[in-house]
Amino acid sequence: MTGIVVLGSTNMDLVAYAARAPKLGETVTGREFRTVPGGKGANQAVAAARAGGEVAMIGAVGEDEFGERLRHTLEASGVDTDLLRTVEGPSGTAHIVVDDEGSNAIVVVPGANGTVTHLVPGDETVIAAADTLLLQLELPLSAVRAGAGAARRHGVRTVLTPAPAQPLPPDLLAAVDLLVPNEHEAATLTGIADAHGAAESLLRQVPEVVITLGAAGSLYAARGGRALAVPAPRVEAVDTTAAGDTFVGALAVALGEGRPMPEAMRWASAAAALCVQRPGASTSMPYRTEIEA
Ligand code: RIB
Repeated sequence: MTGIVVLGSTNMDLVAYAARAPKLGETVTGREFRTVPGGKGANQAVAAARAGGEVAMIGAVGEDEFGERLRHTLEASGVDTDLLRTVEGPSGTAHIVVDDEGSNAIVVVPGANGTVTHLVPGDETVIAAADTLLLQLELPLSAVRAGAGAARRHGVRTVLTPAPAQPLPPDLLAAVDLLVPNEHEAATLTGIADAHGAAESLLRQVPEVVITLGAAGSLYAARGGRALAVPAPRVEAVDTTAAGDTFVGALAVALGEGRPMPEAMRWASAAAALCVQRPGASTSMPYRTEIEA
């Protein structure tokens, strides 16, 4: 049995490091370029596997060099890729600028991810045997809905990262147990800038919410309970790419081990704090021993 199944995207991140991101119509000179395996789905899978979870990935890579590298990165971290299809055409790519503050701006071109429109035979069997299904919004919404529906039918805990933020259909939200937006996504979904207010509003649609707040930590709220704020360790960020994905992957592992939410959030925050101190997505995710330390 696989504890955690990720139904999500794989992207090759094409990352330019520059003092600042260009404005529209402007060109700036960068100082470094890297290709780094990423994608919100693959990032969560790698983060969870390195944090000690047993993880399987459902998604697609293209029939290109990037696809081979994306699959290899997942496998090297211990993720089961039996349900990761290789399809005709290019892999997904993410075009990223990281500035000197460690902040980023990203354009994602879905490529192979766009072909994952539904579940195929075998997907539901693996989801049914899991404890937790991790979803994000870089696959077509039809696949995300199908995954959430399958998890609901089999009583599997469903965690949705609503990124990139977009309006969410009620049937999808009805199948979600825990929603983990960042502060910007929470504001986009609710129209409320204040995280407490946004959490309260989101609880009308899902039973539990964790809003990640970057350096300010994270905020948990559940229906009928009191909100809980957990601070993040103070660190010097060089690249915040995939910090949220690392948080979710580690959180899923901790919750799957039966740890209470406050402890799971502290653990996930430690993982994310390690991630932001290193450049790149999958390249920056910590292993369990590092998180424990
Ligand atoms: O969340 C970070 C990820 O978003 C990057 O790895 C990039 O691929 C984009 O999908």
